[in-house]
This record gives sequence, C-alpha cells and structure tokens, in this order.
Amino acid sequence: MRLVVRNLSKTFSMGFFSRRHVEAVRDVSFEVKGGEIVSLVGESGSGKTTTAKMILRLLPPTRGEILFEGKDVWRDLKEREELREFRRKMHAVFQDPFASYNPFYPVERTLWQAIELLGEDLSKQDKLNLIKESLLRVGLDPKDVLGKYPHQLSGGQKQRIMIARCWILKPLFIVADEPTSMIDASSRGGIIKLLEEMREENGTSIMFITHDLGLAYYVSDRIFVMKDGRIVEEGSPDEIVLSPKHEYTKTLVSSIPKLYKRMEDLV
Ligand SMILES: Nc1ncnc2c1ncn2[C@@H]1O[C@H](COP(=O)(O)OP(=O)(O)O)[C@@H](O)[C@H]1O
Ligand SMILES: [Mg+2]
Repeated sequence: MRLVVRNLSKTFSMGFFSRRHVEAVRDVSFEVKGGEIVSLVGESGSGKTTTAKMILRLLPPTRGEILFEGKDVWRDLKEREELREFRRKMHAVFQDPFASYNPFYPVERTLWQAIELLGEDLSKQDKLNLIKESLLRVGLDPKDVLGKYPHQLSGGQKQRIMIARCWILKPLFIVADEPTSMIDASSRGGIIKLLEEMREENGTSIMFITHDLGLAYYVSDRIFVMKDGRIVEEGSPDEIVLSPKHEYTKTLVSSIPKLYKRMEDLV
C-alpha cells in the first residue's frame, strides 16, 4: 500500500451569486507508506476534514491528485467493482459516531453492510459469527449491542462498532477523523489502542486526524501540521514537538498542557 497525495487543493464557492471563496486546502502533498501511522494536526478550520474527504473519494478536489496503490482515486476508478474494492481497502472512522448510524435500524446493520462489501460467499450463520467475533475483538459483548438502536448505546460503544467494521474488512488504509473527540474521556484511550492493534496485526496504514498535538505525538510515526489549508511542517513526533521550526507549530507545542508520556495520561 502507498498513498501519494500531490498538489491537492479544494476551493469552496459560496453560492452562485457570491464571489466569496474558501480555499480550504491549498497545494497539499504527502505520502503514506504501508503500516505507517501519520497524523494530520491543526486547529479547527485548517482543512483536515476536507483533505480526508477528498482522499476517501467523498469530495472531488479542485486540483491535484490522490494515488492509492498507483491508481488515481478520482480519475482511474470508474467501474462498479473498482469502486467497491476501493471502499473495502480504504475505510473511514468519523468524528461523530452518532451521524455514522441510521437511527431507524439496529446498530449491527453497519456490520452486515461491511460483510456485503467483503463480497465473500458466507452462510447467514457464518456472517453472524463474524459479526460476533468482530464485536468481541473490539471489547464489546455481542449481547449488549445486537438488536440495539443507535440511541441506546454510548458514543464509545458506537465508535467501537465502527472499528469492528474495520476488523471485518481489514482495510489497507484507515482515515480516522477525530475519532475520540466526541466520546467520553474514559473511552478515548481504548479507541486509540484498537486502532494501533489494527496496524500491529494487519499492517493497516492509518491517517489520524486530530487538533491535539499531544495525542498525535503519542500515536504517530510522522506528523503533518496543517494551518489555513497548507501543511506548514512535517516530521517525526520528536522533531515536531521537541524542535518545532514553524511559528505555528511552536504555538501548538506551547499549548500542550503536558507531554503525554504514557497511555494512561490520555484518559
Ligand atoms: N461544504 C463546505 N462549503 C463551504 N465551506 C466549507 C465546506 N466544508 C468546509 N468548509 C470550510 O473549509 C475550511 C476547512 O474546513 P475543514 O476541512 O472542515 O477543517 P477542519 O477539519 O480542519 O476543522 C473551513 O473554513 C470550513 O468552513
Ligand atoms: Mg474536521
């Protein structure tokens, strides 16, 4: 797996009659290798989610290209089967676990859909077993969640089910956009740990998006600092946090209350 992002830009036009434009992402380039965890760090409005959506093929870029396994995700993936394979290999865990579910269906529907995407010829019983296995894998007891509706579960439980989806699909690449920012503090460390285990056991690459440089320092192999739509600095966690070069990175570093030295400090 290799993801190459080259000169990626996105400009939003604010309505047909308006001349206002927002340059949400400006000439962003970076690469992610197989098994790597990279973080995109920046304050709210810096263009992180827009970048993620373009990579996930949810929002078309204004300029630039995104190559995933050598294919341009916007120009080369046309056939239904190619798109399906892309959805299987590249997966998202979003910030808001509430918005990721349809309120009218039991939560496991999302896991049945993941199995459909897997496209393997399994019996109904095999599928159910796979669902239960994936729930256990992310620390959930199937009897606590099967048949429940989204409003009956906590944000942390719902986010774990999104990761259970990843365990079923075993994607090559996960984009996790602020996966812990809307859930209670006590569940945060667990979610991060599950993502790290995905990498350890399946060699999954992860793009972790956060406004929290301390958290990025703890989880990443490399950090990209984003400000006003641009990547202003890139480096290893130690380079970024211990010897920041850009003024904005320095500000971010000074606002980390304390460096997270251990996992327990995250929760
Ligand atoms: N659909 C949209 N239409 C217009 N402007 C948008 C849209 N989505 C995002 N923006 C703007 O683009 C900028 C970057 O937003 P976003 O990528 O969500 O940042 P982040 O995820 O870093 O908080 C912001 O100024 C935001 O208001
Ligand atoms: Mg965002």
